[in-house]
Amino acid sequence: MAETGTKPAVAIGADHAGFVLKAALAEALVAMGHEVLDLGTDGTASVDYPDFAHAVCRAVAEGRARFGVLVCGTGIGMSIAANRHPGIRCALVHDATGARLTRAHNDANVLAMGGRMTGVEPALDALRAFLATPYEGGRHDRRVAKLTPAMESAR
Ligand code: RB5
Repeated sequence: MAETGTKPAVAIGADHAGFVLKAALAEALVAMGHEVLDLGTDGTASVDYPDFAHAVCRAVAEGRARFGVLVCGTGIGMSIAANRHPGIRCALVHDATGARLTRAHNDANVLAMGGRMTGVEPALDALRAFLATPYEGGRHDRRVAKLTPAMESAR
C-alpha cells in the first residue's frame, strides 16, 4: 500500500456539491503528511456522485489507499454508493464524535460528509478524529464481521 512515512494514503472524491469541502480536506491531508489520491471531481460542474464513490472505494478495496473520504451535498448518496462495495464500511458523519466512534466501533474505512451540511472547521475536526482513532477490536469484531455479505447469508 502506498504510504508517506507513517501516514496512510487517503483517496478522496466529491461531486459538484462537495467539491469546495473536498478541496479543503485534501489540502489538510497533504499538510498532515498523507499521500492523497484525489479522484475528482475537479470543479463545480454537475456530475454524478456514484462515479466518485466507486472510484474512491475501488482505490481502498485494491489497497491503493488505506482510507477514503467522500463528499457530496448531504453525504447520503456517497455513503449509499460506497456501502455497496464489499469490504467498504462507509460512515456518514457530521462531527468529530461520530468520526471517532465509527473508527473505534465500526472500523470504518471510508468517511462521508455533506458539503451542504457540515462546515469546513467541523469537517476538518471530523477528518482529524477519523484518522487519529484506531479500531478498538474486542467486542466489536463479531459485529463488524456480521457486516459482510458472507456472514449475513450464514445467519
Ligand atoms: C447533488 O445535487 C446532490 O443530490 C448530491 O450532492 C448528494 O447530496 C446526494 O446524495
